[in-house]
Amino acid sequence: QKYYSIAIDGPAGAGKSTIAKLVAKELQFIYVDTGAMYRAIGLLAVKEGVDMKEEETLGALARKADINLKYENGRQQIYLNGENVTDDIRTEEAGKMASAVGKVKAVREKMVDLQKKIAESDHVIMDGRDIGTVVLPLADLKVYLTADARVRAERRFKELTEKGISCNIEEIEKDIVARDYQDMNREASPLKQAEDAVALDCSYMTIEEVAASIINLFRKAV
Ligand code: C5P
Repeated sequence: QKYYSIAIDGPAGAGKSTIAKLVAKELQFIYVDTGAMYRAIGLLAVKEGVDMKEEETLGALARKADINLKYENGRQQIYLNGENVTDDIRTEEAGKMASAVGKVKAVREKMVDLQKKIAESDHVIMDGRDIGTVVLPLADLKVYLTADARVRAERRFKELTEKGISCNIEEIEKDIVARDYQDMNREASPLKQAEDAVALDCSYMTIEEVAASIINLFRKAV
């Protein structure tokens, strides 16, 4: 059986996961949030008190970590060594940690293996930074989703404020820009647009418009 795959890459806060979830629902694909895996390793590193600069220790930590994705009512749940950490990994801090552990080659190797396996037995829409370039080089559709840093910061600000979390928009924008820089300039699988990816700037598009255009692109591609 042929399993379809859609790869969505792009900088932090572009709306990849929100859009991928919508598309997954419409096409009845599984949505795989690969950032969650790096976040889980970041969380583990913090728990174990491992310094983010100790690459070898981080690699060893990732190798022995048991990371499991389960789907409950179509929603991805992530288990780290048997514990459900789905909610714990959603903080800004965990995002920063994820970006730090994501620089380590040994960490990436393990995550990429897991991700490829998932795509072997289901139709998937997967989002991350290296999906079109490394994880699913033969994806049926690759999208590189971007938006202005300011727009991304505004969206994030709104999201956090609505959750009752107080935050500063300038600081959010600064963090977003710093994380993008780190992700685009690392040696191991840096964030970049795959040659055969379609670039979509969604700064001035609604979520529904972006989802609809991805579904359209997919239907044309297969
Ligand atoms: O997408 P999300 O914000 O959850 O990703 C957190 C961090 O994990 C990213 O900033 C990036 O450094 C890392 N990551 C990665 N490769 C992926 C997904 C995420 O390096 N495929």
